[in-house]
Amino acid sequence: MSESKQIQRIGVLTSGGDAPGMNAALRAVVLAADHYGMEVIAFRHGYQGLLDNDHTPMKPADVMHILQYSGTVIKSARCQRFKEVEAAQEAAANLDALNIDALVVIGGDGSFRGAEHLSAHWGGQIIGVPGTIDNDLFGTDATIGYATAVHIAMDALDKIRDTADAMDRVFIVEVMGRYAGFIGLSSAMAAGAERMILPELQKEKPLTISTIVKHIERTNAIRGEGSYVMVLSEHQWPGGAVALAEQLEAEYHLPCRPCLLGHIQRGGPPSPADRILASELGVHAIELIREGVTKVMAGMQAGNPVAVPLRDTWEKKNPLDSNLLRIQHEIFNPVKKTPRTH
Ligand code: F6P
Repeated sequence: MSESKQIQRIGVLTSGGDAPGMNAALRAVVLAADHYGMEVIAFRHGYQGLLDNDHTPMKPADVMHILQYSGTVIKSARCQRFKEVEAAQEAAANLDALNIDALVVIGGDGSFRGAEHLSAHWGGQIIGVPGTIDNDLFGTDATIGYATAVHIAMDALDKIRDTADAMDRVFIVEVMGRYAGFIGLSSAMAAGAERMILPELQKEKPLTISTIVKHIERTNAIRGEGSYVMVLSEHQWPGGAVALAEQLEAEYHLPCRPCLLGHIQRGGPPSPADRILASELGVHAIELIREGVTKVMAGMQAGNPVAVPLRDTWEKKNPLDSNLLRIQHEIFNPVKKTPRTH
């Protein structure tokens, strides 16, 4: 590994929607920095802390036993003001006053856009670590928090299935991911849901209520009357799961109940996969700093740590798994009558 210059002090922050595993990533950043002889300054409440000069030194003792908790011990925020040029300039001045050489931003696409914006006004290195339950960043097989969110959604869907089955009801379970259907698709597959309403699919061909009803009827015709569980990504139906359930009951007399998972998907113990991913990527971020690179995301591809240009992470599209979609739509819960080959 070639070091372009001796980095002495790095900054770190968590930004945007918190994701299970952010604490594990923070711990890894602090432990790796300490290992390589660097000091760490953590900014509280994401970019807001950069503007408010709200910071604290972080040593290995400060990150003991935090990896098993979701949330973020250094807090997060969505900082609208950071989009302004003056805000980035202020942040740059604050970073320089603290003699910070490099900044690690743990967050999602909004946080990475903020990092790119800062880089136009600040000469230090900036490394992103993908922390979002949405899994909507290009260049990494998974983002930190995604596996946990899918697990929570699957667990909820399993529980809903028990009661749905007992009363032969339709359930609409609303999951997070306003712009990306990863949580919806994976949890639906993992829990055997009959239908998914996902942003990517809605963009292609929005579902109508009558298409939904036809699918419920076809499903009942194929496998007999029973429960029918639909996974709905948030913001994909006017009025969400509650409105759709009311419409199905009122207009089609289908016994139907809504269930909104909301922020439950961001809490509880991070899954082993997220803790391990966060640990690897946190260390990778520090090692990338030592390599002298900047404006990249520390990602993971096929088990290998990679560096992805920050801008690519939101400009390039991370598509849904087409094989999972095919299996759901053609084999498990056909949305069209598919011909039998024999
Ligand atoms: O981006 C992560 C995420 O959890 C999305 O899935 C969700 O739409 C959004 O954050 C919710 O944001 P907030 O916590 O600000 O309500």
